Amino acid sequence: MDKALAGVRILDFTHVQSGPTCTQLLAWFGADVIKVERPGEGDATRAQLRDIPGVDSLYFTMLNHNKRSVTLNAKTASGKALLEALIRHCDVLVENFAPGAMERMGLAWERIHELNPRMIVGSVKGFGPGRYEDCKVYENVAQCAGGAASTTGFGDGPPVVSGAQIGDSGTGLHLALGIVTALYQRTHSGRGQKVLAPMQDAVLNLCRVKLRDQQRLERTHTLHEYPQYPDGHFGDAVPRAGNASGGGQPGWILRCKGWEDDPNAYIYFITQAAVWPAVCKVIGEEGWIEDDAYKTPQARLLHLKPIFSRIEQWTMTKTKFEAMEILNQYDIPCGPILSMKEIAEDPWLRMSGTVVEVEHPTRGRHLTVGNPIKLSDSPTEVTRAPLLGEHTEEVLRELGYTASDMNALRAEGAI
Ligand code: COA
Repeated sequence: MDKALAGVRILDFTHVQSGPTCTQLLAWFGADVIKVERPGEGDATRAQLRDIPGVDSLYFTMLNHNKRSVTLNAKTASGKALLEALIRHCDVLVENFAPGAMERMGLAWERIHELNPRMIVGSVKGFGPGRYEDCKVYENVAQCAGGAASTTGFGDGPPVVSGAQIGDSGTGLHLALGIVTALYQRTHSGRGQKVLAPMQDAVLNLCRVKLRDQQRLERTHTLHEYPQYPDGHFGDAVPRAGNASGGGQPGWILRCKGWEDDPNAYIYFITQAAVWPAVCKVIGEEGWIEDDAYKTPQARLLHLKPIFSRIEQWTMTKTKFEAMEILNQYDIPCGPILSMKEIAEDPWLRMSGTVVEVEHPTRGRHLTVGNPIKLSDSPTEVTRAPLLGEHTEEVLRELGYTASDMNALRAEGAI
């Protein structure tokens, strides 16, 4: 069966996390992704956070599945010529270097477009045009500048960054969508184009409900579903919401049986209006169904703290999985707080291919996250990340380089 992106050649000039997540997705969808790395060292993440001396880190192997690796020094004349040959050969170039690095390599958009007018150039930068456009950016900077940190955490604590890599992997996802969209437009226009995904913008896109709340706050001076209401104080910016639900159905994280010893014995509980009578029945408060103080969603907003405290008395008598089983019988939306250990061992995530085991020549068998996007006509087969330069000769042969050409390139330190 053909893969969705079979025949699309990606020149993957990315490193660290944001760019590699984008090209990994494209590889999972069947594109031929040729990762270009500096000879000798490669992507810096190969050596970062190593758990086995001398072996490519999990940081690298989990972000570079299904790719081929070519080493090439773009700062030598023949390395540059090889890079230009790859630009002519490929459909898409993806990069996430610091601002100005591509231009310093002599590969501004105009030059790439001249070499290959059909080429799509996808870039991740920390910021779009403006006061910070020249800044280098890592994950947490984007979370802070994109509105995630100021709105995450508890009202009486400092800003908090999320464990979800919304700045890096989140931007990689945005860029991948931009690239396939540009590929589609190219089918009519015949032309390549630039695709830019700034990390600040991607984080803000994921935080748009908080910009919604900023405008609600400015109009009404209060946010009824936030834990600051009704007793706390609202300033002029959206406060941190603790574990309050981001939507119109109030929710909170509640302790479950065993919470004293297990830091993840918790459940997320949503008091969805449609199932309020069922919530009351489950916790033994049938009287609340017709009580004016609790009867309507509007009335309940004044009492969310005592409501969740009463529900927690019930959840603390059950494990998170027992609570899930009971609550699901009543269609009450809820979710267990799963630890990474529980996720790693989850048989259903393994069944769906979202958690997979991969064999690697130097690392051995290891666990990784597979493609979370499932295409019925283009199933993903996760293959291991390449060793540094593993495919240099193979790719150069495809470009028409001979063995003696390659020896000359090696002698010059170009590959
Ligand atoms: N051959 C020759 N030179 C190469 C090369 C190759 N194959 N690959 C990379 N280089 C060079 C680049 O040309 C650049 O040289 P220059 O500084 O002389 O122009 C140099 O390597 C370093 O690139 P840079 O991007 O500045 O790396 P860094 O490690 O200093 O910074 C980031 C890392 C992530 C902070 C930075 O790349 C960045 O801000 N990227 C955009 C935002 C982003 O994606 N951040 C998320 C990362 S997960």
